[in-house]
Amino acid sequence: MTIGIIGSGAMGAGIAQVVAVAGHEVYLLDQSATALERATAGIASNLRKLAEKGKMPQEAAEAAVARLHPTTNMQDFAGCGLVLEAIVEELAVKQKVFRQVEAVVAADCILASNTSSLSIASIAAACKRPERFVGTHFFNPAPLMALVEVIPAVQTRDGLAEEVRDLVQSWGKLPVLTKDTPGFIVNRVARPFYGEAIRLLEEGVADMATIDWALTELGGFRMGPFALMDFIGHDVNYRVTESVFTAFFFDPRFKPSFTQKRLFEAGYYGRKSGRGFYNYTPGTTLPEPIRDEALGHQILTRVLAMLINEAVDALALNVASKEDLELAMTKGVNYPKGLLAWADELGPAQVLTTLDALYDEYHEDRYRASPLLRRTVRNGRSFL
Ligand SMILES: NC(=O)c1ccc[n+]([C@@H]2O[C@H](COP(=O)([O-])OP(=O)(O)OC[C@H]3O[C@@H](n4cnc5c(N)ncnc54)[C@H](O)[C@@H]3O)[C@@H](O)[C@H]2O)c1
Repeated sequence: MTIGIIGSGAMGAGIAQVVAVAGHEVYLLDQSATALERATAGIASNLRKLAEKGKMPQEAAEAAVARLHPTTNMQDFAGCGLVLEAIVEELAVKQKVFRQVEAVVAADCILASNTSSLSIASIAAACKRPERFVGTHFFNPAPLMALVEVIPAVQTRDGLAEEVRDLVQSWGKLPVLTKDTPGFIVNRVARPFYGEAIRLLEEGVADMATIDWALTELGGFRMGPFALMDFIGHDVNYRVTESVFTAFFFDPRFKPSFTQKRLFEAGYYGRKSGRGFYNYTPGTTLPEPIRDEALGHQILTRVLAMLINEAVDALALNVASKEDLELAMTKGVNYPKGLLAWADELGPAQVLTTLDALYDEYHEDRYRASPLLRRTVRNGRSFL
């Protein structure tokens, strides 16, 4: 199958590399010739390095580069069986591009979007044949991150999401199926990792170095929430938080924080701008945590209870299967354990007790326990 990719930025270029290596002819389109040149050179250089490190045969790397056809002319998509879009995150622009694609491709060509925050239904709605439309959400960097969320829209024909899942799997990826709801799996379930950590900081329960220490050292997360937000960039992370909150009709569980908004407004985006929660100016030493185990466990327990509650609620609302929820959090954001497995390990009753205590204290909807968590405890069950 020949594949068309629109947008040769960070995501489009990464996805093009994945599908070219998987053996597809790829037409990579961008409106900017400079972006296309950068992407093509970047992919060739990545593959050359992989071959040099012995991670793929030299001939395979060269063959993959030869399968990649950069273009600025959409007519080149005429023979494509799948066109995947990774352009700017604006609904009207995406809709316009898909109208143009549909004028070129065959009636059975599958259309896919890599959108992070728009609903798949809203983009598909612009198409003449929305039944062939599906979401395919890759993670950055696409060649390294195994997870891909596959999202059927309300218009998507039966069976297409499964076909696309199988295709994505044939590229060596780990696809999961998820409902067309805000944040899909990962960007929904992971929100409390950031939000609750910031809340703890705002309340003065602990400083950020201590919160990061608790979650990495005691929790086993690869990065603490503040270090991770600084790494992702507050321009990206704050915007995702705000868009998920808005898309959830302002559910207080997803409420963004003023603390992060101010960093965003100040242009303190994190590592890339030299300053975020932490100061990365050369010569500045990062603050040391207070290695107080009791405090650390208190922090971990609260953040973890909020994360587990989010995963359980996603399960309760059939956003994804248990297996896919676990896979998404371990492979998409490298959590040390799946959150349902973690709930079972801690004991669902313990998690519920933590949440109910928070709810009693704050009387905020943010801390409401998922009905599925309560039911699981009442029935003496576990999740897996
Ligand atoms: N960056 C991430 O971490 C990430 C992760 C998952 C999903 N996404 C989503 O993937 C999409 C792309 O994100 P990105 O980070 O690669 O963006 P980017 O800014 O790096 O690249 C976008 C590219 O699209 C091109 N473009 C814009 N409008 C176009 C048009 N009308 N026709 C042709 N080309 C056009 C631009 O020239 C640019 O090269 C967005 O929908 C984003 O939400 C991003």
